[in-house]
Amino acid sequence: MKQLLILLSFGIFLSCQSNSSESKEDKAPPVAVPTDFIEELWYKNSLIYNVDVEVFKDSDGNGYGDFKGLTQELDYLKGLGVQTIWLAPFQPTPNKDDGYDVSDFYGIDTHLGTTQDFDECVRQANLRGIRVIMDLVTNHTSDQHPWFQQARQRKDSPYRSWYVWSKERPEKWDSGMVFPGVQKAVWTFDKQAGEYYYHRFYDFQPDLNMQNPAVVQEMRKIIRYWLDKGIAGFRVDAVPFLIEVANPGFDPDKPQHQFDMITQLHQYVQWHKRDAILLGEANVDPKEQEPYFGKQGEGIHTMFNFFANQHLFYALATSDTKSLKKALIDTKNIPATSQWAHFLRNHDEIDLGRLSDEERKKVYAKFGPDANMQLYDRGIRRRLAPMLADPRLVELAYSVLFSLPGMPVIRYGEEIGMGDDLRLNERLSIRTPMQWSTGTNAGFSEGTKLVRPVISDGPYRYSRVNVAAQRADSASLLNRVTRFARLRRECPEIGWGTWELLDTGSENVLAIRYDWQGRSLLMVHNFSAAPKSCTLKPSQKTKGSARNLLSKKVEQLDQQGNITIPLAGYGYSWYRLTN
Ligand code: NOJ
Repeated sequence: MKQLLILLSFGIFLSCQSNSSESKEDKAPPVAVPTDFIEELWYKNSLIYNVDVEVFKDSDGNGYGDFKGLTQELDYLKGLGVQTIWLAPFQPTPNKDDGYDVSDFYGIDTHLGTTQDFDECVRQANLRGIRVIMDLVTNHTSDQHPWFQQARQRKDSPYRSWYVWSKERPEKWDSGMVFPGVQKAVWTFDKQAGEYYYHRFYDFQPDLNMQNPAVVQEMRKIIRYWLDKGIAGFRVDAVPFLIEVANPGFDPDKPQHQFDMITQLHQYVQWHKRDAILLGEANVDPKEQEPYFGKQGEGIHTMFNFFANQHLFYALATSDTKSLKKALIDTKNIPATSQWAHFLRNHDEIDLGRLSDEERKKVYAKFGPDANMQLYDRGIRRRLAPMLADPRLVELAYSVLFSLPGMPVIRYGEEIGMGDDLRLNERLSIRTPMQWSTGTNAGFSEGTKLVRPVISDGPYRYSRVNVAAQRADSASLLNRVTRFARLRRECPEIGWGTWELLDTGSENVLAIRYDWQGRSLLMVHNFSAAPKSCTLKPSQKTKGSARNLLSKKVEQLDQQGNITIPLAGYGYSWYRLTN
């Protein structure tokens, strides 16, 4: 057995072992963390739930969800098994990019409540053992932010250098747009300033100049402010753009990155709160992931696994798991203290930009055939349930989500299989209000003018798809997701242990084994609509049994140490292995 010494970011050496029973395709050395750090490394195993406060629950009838409304529903989230709430941007905003255009980093948007309402919400969440993290959107501000207003007015304003300017139109003014088809440029002329300003995203989101130490200092102030208010970490928006070195001469398609900024951010966050985390939004190629996590975990604690996500959708669309298996292996080798965050849907389009054109076409054909379902030449702007359509496939997707190596992240409304409204612009299609009941406005609000319309017609209308109805139905998606969440809590091996893919002899079947502290799990998923029987060798041992965690049935290994697992179409099984 090969001994690996791993230096953790907080200066401790851990000893990890490579596993001799790895399958051929699974080369990366497994890394496990001892239990001593379970408290600090809570993000190894937590269920995260993304709430957009303005569309979750309106307590005062103004048509916007608010913090008081969220506080009222904390018991619902607790019941679902949520351990961490991720708050989408809630600060004052002109709301042209659903709050990702912040005009005051220290405030609460008045539609959503007061600072006291926020404090009470965090306090009540913490009382229930739920942590709260929030979006940190400091790559850019709204163009209505007083900093930009002052910067554009006077060249000698101290805020001028907080943004990125060019006297001439830069050569690459229309390269590297994040929203192709909608966004026309990354450099736009500002009449008041008499110069061009840089914006990776929409033109109303000027980029902050991260080369300016005063901006970095302000960012630290923002971090500290929210940590002091009880926040447990940040979902860091747009990490690759936050750390890019932008100037008039640079090529937005080949930017340089300041990775030491991430290390400094990590240190700063932990100096202020030892177990606070950074959850990074960085859709990068696996070959580029190392400096994001840091060689020894000194970077971002946990990142969304966008790469595996697109290959998961490919597998769901085609029943072929080969590229998903490869994506999992390609993203396997991360530091011992790091973790992936897996998700099915988030608040943006499903980004399929890292699939080949052929692969993307197949996913479009199955899940987003109409041009109106596609967005930015790379993605699909639909919710999971209407897209996957078959309830068995939706259930399979959830079983996979809860059993992938990493922690699961769910977006509000996905747990009841909410639908989308493709009449709304761009990504607003998947940002409609939460459907609580058959009451007025889906039980979301008593108001007459809503922030966004509720879905009131079609198969996903609130009179059919809502929390109240699904609570009462033991076979509902809500109850199945709740069951997965409970099962996941009973399987700490997933977040903490080492894992390997097993040879299933079928491109339709994905099998993962986890090992941790002498305990082992085996999770098997059939991505095909046809039933499959699959024979596999869970380990090198020839004796033992596998207890099905869903049916409690026990299967014995045969003399060769194999187990034969019958799987229904889109069927799945979770087993605990015993010697
Ligand atoms: C990434 C967010 O996920 C997206 O919703 C937003 O539009 C951009 N960053 C700009 O902040």
